[in-house]
Amino acid sequence: MAKIFIDGIECEAHPKQTIIQIADGINNGGKQIVDIPRFCYHPALAVAGNCRMCLVEFGLPGRNKDGSPQLDESGNPVIRWMPKLTTACTTEISDGMHVKTHHTSQVVADAQKGVLEFILINHPLDCPICDQAGECPLQQITYKYGPEESRYEFEKVHKPKREKWGTKIVFDGERCINCTRCVRFFDEYTETHELEIVQRGWNNYPALAPDQTPDENRYAMNVIDLCPVGALTSSDHRFNARVWEMSATDTISVADARCSSVRLWVRDNRVMRLTARPNPLVNGFFISDDDRLNYKWINDNRADAPTIKVGNAQQTADWPNAIQKAAELLRRYRPDEIFVLASARASLETNFVVKKFATEILKTQHLDFLRHIEGADDALLIRADKTPNALGCDMLGIAPAAGGISADDLPEAVWSGKIKCVLAIEDTVEEWLSPEVRAKLEALILLPHNLSDALNEADVVLPAATFAEQIGTFLNFEGVLQLARPAKALKHQNRELMKEMALSRWDKHATQFDRWSSEENKIDAKPAWEILCELSGTMGKAFGYQTAREIFAEIATSLSAFNELDYQKLGKIGVKLEGVNV
Ligand code: SF4
Ligand code: SF4
Ligand code: FES
Repeated sequence: MAKIFIDGIECEAHPKQTIIQIADGINNGGKQIVDIPRFCYHPALAVAGNCRMCLVEFGLPGRNKDGSPQLDESGNPVIRWMPKLTTACTTEISDGMHVKTHHTSQVVADAQKGVLEFILINHPLDCPICDQAGECPLQQITYKYGPEESRYEFEKVHKPKREKWGTKIVFDGERCINCTRCVRFFDEYTETHELEIVQRGWNNYPALAPDQTPDENRYAMNVIDLCPVGALTSSDHRFNARVWEMSATDTISVADARCSSVRLWVRDNRVMRLTARPNPLVNGFFISDDDRLNYKWINDNRADAPTIKVGNAQQTADWPNAIQKAAELLRRYRPDEIFVLASARASLETNFVVKKFATEILKTQHLDFLRHIEGADDALLIRADKTPNALGCDMLGIAPAAGGISADDLPEAVWSGKIKCVLAIEDTVEEWLSPEVRAKLEALILLPHNLSDALNEADVVLPAATFAEQIGTFLNFEGVLQLARPAKALKHQNRELMKEMALSRWDKHATQFDRWSSEENKIDAKPAWEILCELSGTMGKAFGYQTAREIFAEIATSLSAFNELDYQKLGKIGVKLEGVNV
């Protein structure tokens, strides 16, 4: 292994690694050693070296004519500095190399200031109305290293504005700095080549290639995250919220069995957008557009407050009464007349409590969960299994016990009158039990996320919190266990959960007059495990869990693959479980 020195800091490096990779901490567990500003470089894309922002000085140890190292009077190697600056993203290291960044070299700092002045010559600088403001590398780097003002007094070059690249992306050519990240993404990651650079000199910009549209590309919206300026915005999120108004919670996507790592951006308890979060164990740097756009159901059409069926109508009830009613119904039937539907959309903690409730309280052998398979796996990230926790359900043993009825056989069992009562947790029953079959049921108790036809028929509805409103673990199809963290608050917020919640800059720094958050977006729902714990108490054997953490601790002691794990150890990227049959 070679040694190089960046601003005097000794770093280990492999041949073929570049200066910027070492500075970014590629051999240091990803912990950055020195910050080098950049626009075109991205670790997931081929090196382009076109923005010139990552300039550094470098030198190599001098050699005597006989090949021995040149030493100064103190016995230290003499460093021969190169006469010109180089780009850190394109320059490969060599043993003994010394590098000076803008932190230690005035020449580099001046050169970077010059590069920024060139980049900004034709840039509109409309930060106050730009969606990227507040998270814009160009804005941040200019504040840190750029010139204070422009010396350019002529009319700027004009390029296409607000150009729709299909239905998902909007392009602003004047903000583009021609870094080519978007072009390289389509060429290298999806290999679909939707973009090309057109025109020459300072008139050039990326444009859709003839007859191309990114609409069919299920990863196209990654270019919005990749773009280091506000040139590419999402049609879905554009002008909906400023960055500083939103809290960003590191969590996971529940769109499919990959459970890609994502960030949920929330303002006033509404999810405003979802962006990619790098995770080498799960999704690399990118997510699918299915992940990115899978959030509106968290805000809208929610089951909000418990209800009890009175006559043919649903009547709002308070939680104790609704739970009392559910307990009464469940007591009315023999164990073999009750079916419990767990959910691959729910956390491990909830499924653990569901199984405990089915076996210890209801004592029924009829327990199962539904698999939601749509289409096929693709070669990149998308999975046909549209649930985030099917492997977790399998590991917990969510399945009918001996003589029990499976989810597939349930419609028949209801039709024949064998099953009279269904308790369904965090899953949709419509696509599995037809209206005619549901009409045969004597009792239907639902713990749903969203409103649906079946809710009108249910005897008791106890609204369940989504993954975005509670903490819990999910096991993806490859056996990576990750933590979903609460991004938005519920009406009856468990105070334990509040500690896990991210805060926005607005939450932290705004005065009370700047805030316009309200209570009205808080949903009256509870984590399903919490509802079942209350139900267990009403039915005579309280489980007594106060937090999801306690449930996870019990899972960790009962399943060997989870041994010695806790939320702390899962961190931001999760843990790949050993010995899991994936
Ligand atoms: S791209 Fe960045 S620097 Fe340019 S206007 Fe938008 S926020 Fe400002
Ligand atoms: S649109 Fe953005 S990502 Fe594409 S070349 Fe321009 S600045 Fe780079
Ligand atoms: S980041 Fe190195 S040239 Fe652009």
